[in-house]
Amino acid sequence: MSSDSRILVLPPFDATASFKYTESPNPQWKLGDGMPLNSPQARQWKEDEKLGWKTWDMDEMPKPARYKLLTSAVGPRPIAFVSTLSADGIPNLAPFSYFSMVAHDPPIVSISFSLPPNSPKDTRENIRITKEFTVNLISEPWIEAANACAVDAPLEIDEWVVSGLTKEPSDVVKPPRVKESAVSLECELFHFQDICPPGSDLVTNTLVLGLIKKAHIRNAVLAQGGNSVDPEKLRPVARFGGQTYARLGDGFELPRPAWKNVESIVHGLMGEPNGHSSS
Ligand SMILES: Cc1cc2nc3c(=O)[nH]c(=O)nc-3n(C[C@H](O)[C@H](O)[C@H](O)COP(=O)(O)O)c2cc1C
Repeated sequence: MSSDSRILVLPPFDATASFKYTESPNPQWKLGDGMPLNSPQARQWKEDEKLGWKTWDMDEMPKPARYKLLTSAVGPRPIAFVSTLSADGIPNLAPFSYFSMVAHDPPIVSISFSLPPNSPKDTRENIRITKEFTVNLISEPWIEAANACAVDAPLEIDEWVVSGLTKEPSDVVKPPRVKESAVSLECELFHFQDICPPGSDLVTNTLVLGLIKKAHIRNAVLAQGGNSVDPEKLRPVARFGGQTYARLGDGFELPRPAWKNVESIVHGLMGEPNGHSSS
């Protein structure tokens, strides 16, 4: 089925659906329980083991097949919507989902550029030369505008015009941030690492680490207390494989186990004399 024919039968986007907290999948779970078979979905998950696994050897896969497989398997990925300026001051805006937070001390994000032969990404080039960029996180109400910026337009085309989004001056870097974005990070280049396949000197990717100098968060998406972001209000959009985007479903909280509270249970599970079982 082509993506066009699929679009014809899809229900409209439900803008009213929003994130809410639920219980975790197995609230009665105890240390050592593994995967409880207490729902039809969990039992099916167990049943599916009988289908076995399909395994790919990365070295034997054509590049497009590897891209298709890995981008659909490793997700959902957050998307950095990156604003840069060329050496001549020409603005550029593009989305990148090989993106993550790397550290908070120092505060660092990573972006990775895939570089098809003879097709350097303008964003990469701008960061290399100017050493500055802003990362803007994308929310549901303006995802189409962000997606349009992935157009393979010539260098002189300004993606801001293509998107219709609004420039907001940054505080400490020259590239503007996106006014429609609820979370914008002003970044300075921290590290620029070209990547070549083993045994080759052809640069196929570049990993950029950005040091966050300023974080701008819309007041309207802040959680109670004003020191963190409320996922229900943020309405973030993530990337899967192909042309697929994902929105946030429900959330649940799970406390991280503290060793002092679980130590004797774990020893019990290991069959040691001073332990006791968790039930
Ligand atoms: C949602 C989305 C995520 C993308 N992620 C990446 C990525 O992580 N790395 C990359 O090199 N290109 C990625 N692309 C493609 C770039 O956005 C595209 O090549 C763009 O034209 C680059 O713009 P530039 O040349 O102005 O930098 C992505 C495209 C979309 C729509």
